Amino acid sequence: MSGGGLNLGKSVFIKTYGCQMNVYDSNRMVDLLEVAGYSKTEHLSSADLIILNTCHIREKAEEKVYSELGRLTKLKTKRKEQGSKILIAVAGCVAQAEGKRILERAPTVDLVFGPQTYHRLPFMVQNAMAGGKRIVDTEFPVEDKFDHLAQGSQQGGPSKFLTIQEGCDRFCTFCVVPYTRGAEQSRPAISIAQEARRLVADGAREITLLGQNVNAWHGESPSGGEWKLGRLICYLAEIEGIDRIRYTTSHPKDVDDELINAHREVPQLMPFLHLPVQSGSDKILAAMNRHHNARDYFHTVEKLRKARPEIVLSSDFIVGFPGEEDEDFAKTIKMVNEVGYAQAYSFKYSARPGTPAADIIDQVEDSVAAERLAGLQQLLRAQQDAFLSAQKGKKVKVLFERLGKQVGQICGRSPYMHPVHAQAPDSFLGKIAEVHIAEVKTNSLLGKVELGKRLARNAAVAEGVSL
Ligand code: 5AD
Ligand code: SF4
Repeated sequence: MSGGGLNLGKSVFIKTYGCQMNVYDSNRMVDLLEVAGYSKTEHLSSADLIILNTCHIREKAEEKVYSELGRLTKLKTKRKEQGSKILIAVAGCVAQAEGKRILERAPTVDLVFGPQTYHRLPFMVQNAMAGGKRIVDTEFPVEDKFDHLAQGSQQGGPSKFLTIQEGCDRFCTFCVVPYTRGAEQSRPAISIAQEARRLVADGAREITLLGQNVNAWHGESPSGGEWKLGRLICYLAEIEGIDRIRYTTSHPKDVDDELINAHREVPQLMPFLHLPVQSGSDKILAAMNRHHNARDYFHTVEKLRKARPEIVLSSDFIVGFPGEEDEDFAKTIKMVNEVGYAQAYSFKYSARPGTPAADIIDQVEDSVAAERLAGLQQLLRAQQDAFLSAQKGKKVKVLFERLGKQVGQICGRSPYMHPVHAQAPDSFLGKIAEVHIAEVKTNSLLGKVELGKRLARNAAVAEGVSL
């Protein structure tokens, strides 16, 4: 990367909205900018470059970004009065969708760039710094973004993300992703394995494979053929040091037998799957263009449970999709009762401009959708609470990621993604250990690591207690 010296001593502040893909992308932007001489700061007021990495999936996403830009304009003016220049950039899916409208509505913005052009960020920043024109870069270039991303390190503990797939070709009628993230692209297996090895060398024990539709991954195999996700997972499981593998987010239609086999055969693949179904009504699933019906979904869940009996499911639901009647909603409730979820996200449908569903006349009244959402969330919450409560008294394997708020406590996650707070020495950080669950909180578990005699003695000595 050229010109790193020009920006020495400068700092970048990134505010990330939305999904894990954005968190991952923000880390990658920091990596790229570090090469160009920027360091990350947590202090907005002292940053030289401020990036809003935006998400477009929720309602009023643009308005939230514009009001944040209003606040940043004041900061930029103040810094100018103090004699220093800051650059303001808008990245991510709102940038992709709004493009140069952002420059028109927010004169304070210097750079607008979409998810496919991050690798050009250092050059854009340099141009803007040198007083060049305001830039909009929201193309979907033919070149592969994956090839250009710096091999940087993610902050934090032993659980890391790895993007293997970008974009989506499914075109669910409510969703902006195919328009903002573009066509599906799969990263080659070798490049994924290289990054996985590097993450392990940096301390990763758990890797979450990311993609907008991750199980549509169909990348080049090491011998030049094509693999699907199940095969890739088996390949990654052979890397020494990877103890846990997860993937998100999946589409039920793209769960094939090879992937189900991976759940059967790969012990590192965690028995927790986020498999959004959106609705239990065939009529609504068809209107959403989901390419499967409720029976297909049940069938897939059955096959997964047969392959890995301890697997638990998470899902996304949309209520109040245009044309949803009471009987359609009742089918969603029936599905939730029949499948049973350890956790789930549920949303009231919101029309996203430019998507086919936004043009359907038969929109559901807001009060009806709100009432349905409340009913669904009550049921999902009850299922989540029951699953959480059932962990009491069990021994749960936890990957410890960070120190807890209380002295002597460290925190991590169970195979089912539950946050677990445990009494254990710091030496367990980055390791997997069994926790005896003694207490269940609203969203988390509390317990104690069963220490062997030697460790118990060491811990007691460290605390000044004689045994
Ligand atoms: N309205 C409501 N929920 C939506 N989602 C995506 N688009 C919309 C929309 N227009 C939800 C879906 C998806 C999750 C990430 O966000 O449930 O799975
Ligand atoms: Fe959006 Fe997921 Fe449907 Fe793709 S599969 S269009 S990302 S909801």
